[in-house]
Amino acid sequence: MIKPYVPNDSWSRKAAKEGFRARSVYKLMEIDERFRLLKPGQTVVDLAAAPGSWLQYVSKRIGPKGLAIGFDLQTITPIAENVRTFEQDITQPEKIDSLLEAQHLPAIDLVLSDIAPSTSGIRDIDQWRSIELNQVVIAIAARWLRPGGYCVLKVFRGADFDAFLREVKADWKNVKIVTPRASRDRSKEVYLVMKKA
Ligand SMILES: C[S@@+](CC[C@H](N)C(=O)[O-])C[C@H]1O[C@@H](n2cnc3c(N)ncnc32)[C@H](O)[C@@H]1O
Repeated sequence: MIKPYVPNDSWSRKAAKEGFRARSVYKLMEIDERFRLLKPGQTVVDLAAAPGSWLQYVSKRIGPKGLAIGFDLQTITPIAENVRTFEQDITQPEKIDSLLEAQHLPAIDLVLSDIAPSTSGIRDIDQWRSIELNQVVIAIAARWLRPGGYCVLKVFRGADFDAFLREVKADWKNVKIVTPRASRDRSKEVYLVMKKA
């Protein structure tokens, strides 16, 4: 049965108690526990990272030898020495490319995206915007990830989801659909975990 929406739910309270900026951290934690994605020393890019709970978690998992780069439309309050953040719209991929080039990064191991479009309230439009944003995420991930690197992205299920999934499966390996426990019961969101060939 669908549960009513409770803004300050147990995941939000847990996040506040554990010092995380958002409840979404528990979605990434569950995905990481299942797929063992994050390791010390890695280089990770988070496209749509504000307020920064995923970056907080990534920072701890990659440790002082790792580096995380986060982008968002919104400013991200500084997190740690091994995290750099930029206020940047990811739908300007040439700007993302030049910011990443300027970091002189080693190979990128993991690209994350928890991107959410500003919602119109019209389900099909919101779902289509989510897919359009994810097409940008995938293009950036395809250019920047090392072979064998992983991409994790959030997408809303709806009329265009199956076609989107087919496109992803044509170009990426080991594509898995995950619904973390912390995703709200009312939500249509799922996460795709995929490996670059
Ligand atoms: C659910 S939040 C991400 C939460 C984040 N994973 C965390 O743990 O703190 C979704 C984010 O997508 C960002 N976003 C939406 N469209 C964007 C765009 N075109 N470029 C960059 N960020 C975008 C929003 O500003 C918002 O901060």
